[in-house]
Amino acid sequence: MIVDLILGLQWGDEGKGKIVDVLTKSYDIIARFQGGPNAGHTLKFDGNKHILHTIPSGIFHSDALNVIGNGVVIDPVIFKKEIENLKSYNIDFSSKLLLSKKAHLILPTHRLLDAASEKSKGKGKIGSTLKGIGPTYMDKTGRNGIRVGDISQPNWKEKYSTLSKKHLKMLNYFNSKIDFNLKALEDEFFKSLNSLKLCQIVDSEYFINDSLKKGKKVLAEGAQGSLLDIDFGTYPYVTSSNTTAAGACTGLGIAPNKINDVFGVFKAYVTRVGSGPFPTELNNKDGERLANIGKEFGSTTGRKRRCGWIDLVALKYAIEINGVTKLIMMKADVLSGFEKIYACVSYKTSDGKIINHFPYDSGINGIEPVYKELDGWMDEITEINNPNSLPISLKNYIAFIEEALETPIKIISLGPDRKQTIYVN
Ligand code: GDP
Ligand code: IMO
Ligand code: MG
Repeated sequence: MIVDLILGLQWGDEGKGKIVDVLTKSYDIIARFQGGPNAGHTLKFDGNKHILHTIPSGIFHSDALNVIGNGVVIDPVIFKKEIENLKSYNIDFSSKLLLSKKAHLILPTHRLLDAASEKSKGKGKIGSTLKGIGPTYMDKTGRNGIRVGDISQPNWKEKYSTLSKKHLKMLNYFNSKIDFNLKALEDEFFKSLNSLKLCQIVDSEYFINDSLKKGKKVLAEGAQGSLLDIDFGTYPYVTSSNTTAAGACTGLGIAPNKINDVFGVFKAYVTRVGSGPFPTELNNKDGERLANIGKEFGSTTGRKRRCGWIDLVALKYAIEINGVTKLIMMKADVLSGFEKIYACVSYKTSDGKIINHFPYDSGINGIEPVYKELDGWMDEITEINNPNSLPISLKNYIAFIEEALETPIKIISLGPDRKQTIYVN
């Protein structure tokens, strides 16, 4: 029985979508376990680019089944658009895509609440993608939410109307008003619901566990990143789900003893989109260079991503919480051309103490990274397909990271395309 996990170890956008797509050929089932359309997972192959928000990144492989687990929150409007974007691929969603009855629905009023909440925070805003994620998970844990399985229940309309009325009253509590046309939003929402029925609506926890008993291999696909985890991230500048390994257990109904490998995906540097602390952020020409060469613009919102040097303290923290067994380093090609590169090895607190742990949020703003300087490489590396052919400085960078993190790097990505991926033994 094998379940492997793929998780982001930074603040999201590490390249999880690309890697899930690359690894899908070794699995029977790809299963998303948390988050919702705040995610944007980019896949590139045959000259085409695809951005998936809710649909798992194994969807382009004819042999794999894709599951949207109970831990995911679904916006039918975005889901419908995703399905429509895949039209030219003639994917038979009824046989290839399964959706948990227990996944919660994002209502139009959840999105409105998200917008009003963010607006009311002013400068202290989270930088949410405004997809309604926070309010939907609030209703889930508050035991007021509506689940996919409810759509086919006789009291569905009544449930919807009770909850949306409550949301409209809640909107009045916010001091900042937002404009909206509820009728238009609701028309779009109700029209989109049929698209959910294009896939199989199932008890996905039974489906996954039965499949495991039959010897099938499952790859669980995380969204966001460990530093956006509701418990362990840079709270309150986080998302509203557990993005870490435990989230795969609750978001799919998989017991911890079924988990085999935990693949931790990280960029060879760091990015963050939205507000919140970022110790190694570069507000200078190096940061600009990373953003431009790395094309660091959000896949979901198009916002510019903040960029900085790799943070090994934060990575070590994420590795520990997730139980990462193997690392996957993305976007090493973006570092080509820097004479020197820097890796944060510890932090210095405002009173001069050196620390090696990721501090509680109130302490993180006053810390400064302590860097190790390493030689960069000038070579163009995007066509390299053998780890032995990598420039010596990149090999040294990899060895330095592996030693600091006490975890092996097994895959190195040198470009956005499926083919630009090399395996290390
Ligand atoms: P995800 O949310 O973790 O799936 O990551 P995103 O798709 O949001 O962001 C990663 C971006 O980097 C996408 O535009 C990818 O096409 C791109 N990408 C992935 N791997 C590489 C790589 O190794 N090199 C380069 N240059 N781009 C990459
Ligand atoms: P993927 O799966 C990067 C960030 C937002 C914001 C915070 C809260 O593509 O890696 P939310 O919409 O959840 O209320 O936003 O989390 N965020 C992401 N950043 N990648 C993502 O997903 C993200 N999903 C949410 O920018 O700072
Ligand atoms: Mg993304």
